[in-house]
Amino acid sequence: MTAAGRSPRRGGALADLSVLHQGAILLRDGVIAAVGPPGKVERLKEARSAELLDLDGRVVLPGFVDSHTHLIHAASRAEEYELKIQGVGYEEIAQKGGGILNSVSKLRATTSEELKARARLFLERFAEHGTTTIEAKSGYGLDLTSELRILSLHKELDAEQPLEIVSTFLGAHVVPAEFRNKPHGSRDYRSLLEQELIPEVAENGLAEYCDVFCERSAFSLADSRQILAAGKKHGLRPRIHAEQLSNTGATRLGVELGASSCDHLEYLKPADIRALVKSNTVATLLPGCDFHLGLKRYAPARQLIDSGAVVSLATDFNPGTSPTLSMPMVLSLACNQLRMTPAEAVAAATINAAYSLGRHRTIGSLEAGKQADLAVFEVADYREIPYYFGVNTCWLTMKRGEVIHMRD
Ligand code: NIG
Ligand code: FE
Repeated sequence: MTAAGRSPRRGGALADLSVLHQGAILLRDGVIAAVGPPGKVERLKEARSAELLDLDGRVVLPGFVDSHTHLIHAASRAEEYELKIQGVGYEEIAQKGGGILNSVSKLRATTSEELKARARLFLERFAEHGTTTIEAKSGYGLDLTSELRILSLHKELDAEQPLEIVSTFLGAHVVPAEFRNKPHGSRDYRSLLEQELIPEVAENGLAEYCDVFCERSAFSLADSRQILAAGKKHGLRPRIHAEQLSNTGATRLGVELGASSCDHLEYLKPADIRALVKSNTVATLLPGCDFHLGLKRYAPARQLIDSGAVVSLATDFNPGTSPTLSMPMVLSLACNQLRMTPAEAVAAATINAAYSLGRHRTIGSLEAGKQADLAVFEVADYREIPYYFGVNTCWLTMKRGEVIHMRD
């Protein structure tokens, strides 16, 4: 499945995966040199001296592009998981000092070496599930030192191992504890973000994007506007956590500011959908959160796709709302809960996700000239990837032509 063609994919085009029932791919120096029917590719001069990898009827896709993760965190929140099962709400846990603040105090007490070792293991797991590029957000540091530590780890990890990491600054995750219960605490934290953290992050080239958690329990619409505008002024492109637990107007703000992506979107209103449809802002859906939190309300994926918005899917890998790094599992949730077809889910998790990260010219599809990032699944039909839910059928993963995972 090459997912080749024009990007971004909207409406009916989302389901067109350009399937080759018999296919061959010629790779050279980590780049795709040719894709097509075996007879044609094998006849190319270069193919005669190429090393042959027989995939024996397995299914090949572009490597997954996971465009929303919170990679760097110090520990799970399994204790909160149990509370949630017993009926305590996500926001209620956060109000009592749990939630994001729980992860913040744990991260601040953890060394960069420990965080790095933990992240390396996660990156291996991502590769085992067919993912070749991830976006990673900071946001469990929330002070200058800790946020810079997280973003520097993104950079170091990107350089030292095969997966590509796209870095996002999420200093506006929540107002940290030391600013709460102060007369102008949230205003003061916003000033810190705008006057110190954002300039520092941008100056050191530590992030490409700036994100805000716009929610009643996090940052208001007005605060989000100012923070994203400050990021933009320093060359950080906006992304936004929008309408996850309530409708705040974050989606329309994102569209207005030319955000690359609005993420979550469970509480979209018709006007939000219309705004997304008219824009190039990607609607990134994260069904893993609703599944993990046991919420019944999923994003209106069908309406978004059918009205022509650019829809993408991601894991939102994080310890509080979505502790999964499995894109195949997200595909299962997208099919069963969002009513997306398997073909739509694959395109949303590859070419449209690459578009949301501004990388659609290099990754997200199997086309001559693009990076040789691919995932091979041990299934007879691509629909079996989401069909076997909770089962990882990924057999081989390749990043820039290098095998980074192979099942023995
Ligand atoms: O994407 N919504 C905000 N951020 C995360 C959750 C973070 C957490 O609970 O630790 C999310 O769902
Ligand atoms: Fe998130």
